[in-house]
Amino acid sequence: MTQDEMKKAAGWAALKYVKKGSIVGVGTGSTVNHFIDALGSIKDDLQGAVSSSIASTEKLQALGIKVYDCNDIDQLDIYVDGADEINPQRAMIKGGGAALTREKIVAAIADQFICIVDGTKAVDILGKFPLPVEVIPMARSYVTRELIKLGGTPIYREGVITDNGNVILDVHDLQIRDPKTLESQINAITGVVTNGLFAHRGADVVITGTAQGAKIEE
Ligand code: A5P
Repeated sequence: MTQDEMKKAAGWAALKYVKKGSIVGVGTGSTVNHFIDALGSIKDDLQGAVSSSIASTEKLQALGIKVYDCNDIDQLDIYVDGADEINPQRAMIKGGGAALTREKIVAAIADQFICIVDGTKAVDILGKFPLPVEVIPMARSYVTRELIKLGGTPIYREGVITDNGNVILDVHDLQIRDPKTLESQINAITGVVTNGLFAHRGADVVITGTAQGAKIEE
């Protein structure tokens, strides 16, 4: 099985958590794209979706799925998204696709976070994947200096502007043994919009695509 086939297995397995007539929170990325295809197959049984990126919104709409403004929705049953890394406590690094802030917002209004990944995303200690931090453009140099004080090596992701008009710093050389504390510390730096650690709000269900099919951990 290729990595993409494992992502597909995970994406389609998440359909079992979609309630008839509901509005679903939808993340961003290549694994979620498979989930969106799966949603397309049941679109007549769906009320719609709240999306975490322009890219996912366009894909949902192309399949005829209504996309609601997050401000018009009080609560979602589920939010389905991928991850760049996930640890045994179900804390994640996200934001490889630069959609971390909107992902965190949609996840915040959902009762359950369903994380869909292929087996390569599981790690014991987060940090080998560089941690994305979304930053207000005029604060980029200041935030870079503060992130160095926290022990990381921030690299400006050149040429990338987020859906919110901000820039991304990818923080290398971190070994994240206390993800909740680091998530809070980075978010407290002036000029940071948010960072890609999802530790305070980790995953509730993990669906891993493997060579043997989708493995579900609740
Ligand atoms: C997008 O900003 C990310 O948080 C994605 O969820 C993450 O990068 C996983 O992407 P893939 O499913 O493409 O690996």
